[in-house]
Amino acid sequence: MKRSISGIKPTGNLTLGNYIGALREFKKYQDEYENYVFIADLHALTLPIDPAFLRSNTKDIVAFYLASGLDINKTTIFLQSDVSAHSELNSILINYLYMGELSRMTQFKDKSAKLNHEAIGVGLFAYPVLMAADILLYNADVVPVGEDQQQHVELTRDLVHRFNTRYNKEVFVMPKAITPKVGARIMSLSDPTKKMSKSDPKGDIFLKDEPNIIRKKIMSAVTDTGSDIIYDPVNKPGISNLLQIYAALSDISIEEAQTKFKDIHQYGEFKKIVADKVLEEIIPFQERYKAFLNNNTINEVLNIGKERARKVANKTLTKIKKTVGLYVHE
Ligand code: TYM
Repeated sequence: MKRSISGIKPTGNLTLGNYIGALREFKKYQDEYENYVFIADLHALTLPIDPAFLRSNTKDIVAFYLASGLDINKTTIFLQSDVSAHSELNSILINYLYMGELSRMTQFKDKSAKLNHEAIGVGLFAYPVLMAADILLYNADVVPVGEDQQQHVELTRDLVHRFNTRYNKEVFVMPKAITPKVGARIMSLSDPTKKMSKSDPKGDIFLKDEPNIIRKKIMSAVTDTGSDIIYDPVNKPGISNLLQIYAALSDISIEEAQTKFKDIHQYGEFKKIVADKVLEEIIPFQERYKAFLNNNTINEVLNIGKERARKVANKTLTKIKKTVGLYVHE
């Protein structure tokens, strides 16, 4: 059976972007693939974070995973820091990527641009190395992610090629990023030229927002001149973003969504239909999330996941240690 792996970093409140670009996609793989989904808590340390906030975000993500329909009989849900092989493989792989390529990563450039040059953490810089370890430990064939993470998976592919060539055998499986057909890059509602991100409270829809707040945010989303509902990200980024959200949540193409709205010539009316669609999906999701958060299943799920993930990861780690010449003994 082919394997799929992905994760979410518990750095803040999850957004509708995380939901459409990633979370909602994960369950689509659990029938056809051996599915691994984790919480990238070590990655959350790459920028300063309050410990209590990190802990509660971590629990939230487990509950979100369960609420999204991930079934622990089909999907291994685990915590990155529970599987020490991630850190160990990271220590090995860090020697196979170059400073030049890491410094060209868009996410690094964006995040480090906001910091004093002297205070850019090594972890932030080496972020994609740990991400490569996450993927390669599980010999994953596919990595479902949003568009912004594609570049990191590409770098992982470069690493696989480099590593396998160097040792002259197929040590690592070549992974492939898969992004949703519609919704791989949900934009901010307050500035639709920018990606919706966990650190942009104004333009975000948070998965924990009250339904009336979600409706309000959508109704006041920045739109464009004109009154037609047309997908044109360059000239009509606001309307295009809302169309994208509607299409993704309806599991239809952008063209189909556009056809549906061809007779509507009022943005207000269109926004109301988009808000209804989002709430139709998010309200029951929030109810399931709350139930999972309150019924003490979180630790049990993580304990089961930890055991399963460790088994697979440790096996790969041993193989890699042997490959590079570390002295593996019983
Ligand atoms: P993170 O936590 O930033 O985001 C989690 C997932 O959500 C997607 N995403 C979006 N998709 C569409 N529109 C948006 N506006 C949007 N914002 C975020 C992201 O692309 C991602 O898929 N580095 C990863 C976590 C990670 C990981 C891994 C993922 C660590 N190791 C190994 C896959 C495999 C991250 O920070 O995602």
